[in-house]
Amino acid sequence: MDLSTNYVGLRLKNPIIVASSGLTENLKNMKKVEENGAGALVVKSLFEEEVCRVSPTPRFEIISRTMGPLRSQTLYSFEQASPFSPEEYFKEVSKALSILSIPVIPSINCITNEGWLKYSKMAQEINAPALELNVSCPHASISFRGQDVDDTIINTAKLVRENVDIPLIVKLPMQLSSPLAVAKELERIGINGIVMFNRLTGLDIDLEKEKPIMHGGYAGHGGPWALNYTLRWISTSSPHLNISISASGGVGSGDDIVKYIMVGADAVQVCSIIYLMGYEIISSLLNGVKRFMENKGYTSLEDFRGKVSGKAILGNYEIDRRHYLKAQIDENLCNACGICKKVCIYDAPIPKDGKYFITELCDGCGLCPKLCPQKAITMVKR
Ligand SMILES: Cc1cc2nc3c(=O)[nH]c(=O)nc-3n(C[C@H](O)[C@H](O)[C@H](O)COP(=O)(O)O)c2cc1C
Ligand code: SF4
Ligand code: SF4
Repeated sequence: MDLSTNYVGLRLKNPIIVASSGLTENLKNMKKVEENGAGALVVKSLFEEEVCRVSPTPRFEIISRTMGPLRSQTLYSFEQASPFSPEEYFKEVSKALSILSIPVIPSINCITNEGWLKYSKMAQEINAPALELNVSCPHASISFRGQDVDDTIINTAKLVRENVDIPLIVKLPMQLSSPLAVAKELERIGINGIVMFNRLTGLDIDLEKEKPIMHGGYAGHGGPWALNYTLRWISTSSPHLNISISASGGVGSGDDIVKYIMVGADAVQVCSIIYLMGYEIISSLLNGVKRFMENKGYTSLEDFRGKVSGKAILGNYEIDRRHYLKAQIDENLCNACGICKKVCIYDAPIPKDGKYFITELCDGCGLCPKLCPQKAITMVKR
């Protein structure tokens, strides 16, 4: 079985890239990435803004939220930039390049044109196989904001493209009016790959203290929920782009990696799950991908890459809108809890003889089967 993939001209032995973060901050951690089997890594970002090179403590929180029966988790964090100076940073990356066999991709985030030029040239001087431009950090002063975010990203990428020759990857934020339009423009100016997406900026509140939690400010937030938005945009974008795409957001299993390849990603970046489970999870993620491929009889990623993208996804005018299904309750399973009646905005379920039944008022919306604790409701033909 061949898990290898091509990413910005680099051949990776498998599609997992450990994303830029403390997980890749120094040579010691980068070695753990390689030992645990990832295909490549992006080094923790070097920030031009010096205050960001020191992180506060504590800097991690796990936020659990509920909405009735729904559960959602967020890894909320204020880990800042690489603690290294530019000289130390590129020395460390250079050491990693000479010792490790997987591609080691530095990442930079600057606040001035001079910074972008200086750091990108330093990456080129150490023969970095590629460079990631982090134009999407969720932490306050270094995020691009305002009406001209798209143009600022493109102009920054253009400035670096015109001055260095190594493959360039732009890590996009989620908050763009059209991620595909920005990606197309980046392709036009000669960028070799994009990352969809960085995390969002967020806030949570300690109600007792009536203050922001943790360190008192905003922080980055991401979690399993980030997967679906990213799948949506890669599936739209991949058929229209000739540059590489790496997915980033919400990977928690091998199946999630498969989904990203199915929408057309060339590689998949992984971060939060490693913070939560340790580097060893990388091999479980890879095993998940292999299991899927074995079940389907696939021998390479090309066998299913992009299968669920572009025209494979129905447009607004193609979606079947017929109401040919209705809900039906299996009275042997129903325990008369009344949940279906409570949630049905069409008032279709009614109680009768200690059980519930669905009347003709059922619109077929499909919600109550998802909420019935007894799994007593199925959708059947009208
Ligand atoms: C603690 C932490 C630190 C991060 N630091 C950086 C960084 O320095 N540069 C960067 O481009 N992205 C950074 N990220 C974003 C990740 O690289 C990744 O894009 C994001 O977390 C989404 O992937 P995930 O859902 O697998 O975590 C960081 C994420 C976390 C959780
Ligand atoms: S939600 Fe399920 S168990 Fe509860 S009343 Fe409806 S059908 Fe019966
Ligand atoms: S499927 Fe929708 S419309 Fe029909 S009974 Fe259930 S909640 Fe009501």
